[in-house]
Amino acid sequence: MQTRIEVGILGATGMVGQHFVKFLQGHPWFDLKWVGASDRSAGKRYRDACEWRLGGGAPANVADLVVEECKPGNAPRLLFSATDASVATEIERAFAEAGHVVVSNSKNHRMERDVPLLVPEVNADHLKLVPGQQRNRGWKGQIVTNPNCSTIGLVMALAPMKQFGITKVIVTTMQAISGAGYPGVASMDIVGNVIPFIGGEEEKMQIETQKILGDFRGDHIEPLAAKVSAHCNRVAVVDGHTEAVSLEFSSKPGEADLRKALESFRGVPQQKDLPSAPKQPVIYLEEANRPQPRKDAERERGMAAFVGRLRPCPVLDYKFVVLSHNTIRGAAGAAVLNAELMHSEGMLD
Ligand SMILES: NC(=O)c1ccc[n+]([C@@H]2O[C@H](COP(=O)([O-])OP(=O)(O)OC[C@H]3O[C@@H](n4cnc5c(N)ncnc54)[C@H](OP(=O)(O)O)[C@@H]3O)[C@@H](O)[C@H]2O)c1
Repeated sequence: MQTRIEVGILGATGMVGQHFVKFLQGHPWFDLKWVGASDRSAGKRYRDACEWRLGGGAPANVADLVVEECKPGNAPRLLFSATDASVATEIERAFAEAGHVVVSNSKNHRMERDVPLLVPEVNADHLKLVPGQQRNRGWKGQIVTNPNCSTIGLVMALAPMKQFGITKVIVTTMQAISGAGYPGVASMDIVGNVIPFIGGEEEKMQIETQKILGDFRGDHIEPLAAKVSAHCNRVAVVDGHTEAVSLEFSSKPGEADLRKALESFRGVPQQKDLPSAPKQPVIYLEEANRPQPRKDAERERGMAAFVGRLRPCPVLDYKFVVLSHNTIRGAAGAAVLNAELMHSEGMLD
């Protein structure tokens, strides 16, 4: 039987932290043994420090853990990070410097030249940045990140089509309120409404997409040369970001070529049968009115991207719709899959 690996969560009491706690329950490799948060929570039992906002209540084995401060000391080597962005830079660096493997959700380190922005199905080879990161910074530990919740669905849908030479992408998002954390957007602002602005989101989607779909070049990633333009909107949906995408190619693939590429797409997690990997990362839905967040976001444990409505675009070449679960595949589930890939590559030994 495989040796189990102890893990901890930085920012365990927050929204994403709670998704980590839930997602890690019953994990075949990882045992959650340590939870960290701010000094407001440190010293309290998890059940008292954290107002549990997901279904089912906090798992009993975690509810009794005493919350620690986010300072290196007695934490396990592998740490998932869901700390507030205002403090994530220093906290994650301190742990990496102290020899921890920090698998982070926060935006803070994603665009640094020597930090992988990892989507295991799409760019597993970007993990080759890690030895250079450790050399550059004199760290025994490391930081690996996952993308923003709106970027993940887009890149999972684009990755199978990269072979046809993507030159332009225009994406319009309809993003769930859970993406804004808790309490997020005030109900008076979002019920029966659409908010056509999410601070910093469009820039993140544009540059993260180019980095993730870029090529590893020894000590950095050469970004995908395609132009990416994002319009980001908040809508009154609880979970699941829906995105309408138009794109242009340098070669002129047929619609059947694109469908085949989407449906046959598999990555390293599927080849290695990693525990949290969806069997099929991109699932094409035939119905003209799908994907829909309420019907599809939770399927495949929230780990797949659902694509539909692929059709010619009169302005660019093709257009389609993609949906992914923002707090699972766009946050906790993404980071757990990253750590599974790293373990399978011997990076946690
Ligand atoms: N919500 C999403 O869908 C989503 C998706 C992807 C990425 N993210 C990113 O994930 C991170 C967490 O988001 P969230 O929505 O879960 O936020 P949140 O609910 O506000 O939780 C923030 C967490 O950070 C902790 N924290 C705050 N100040 C701290 C400090 N000085 N030292 C140590 N810990 C501190 C909080 O602990 P206390 O409870 O003790 O205050 C809490 O555990 C953010 O960086 C966010 O950008 C969010």
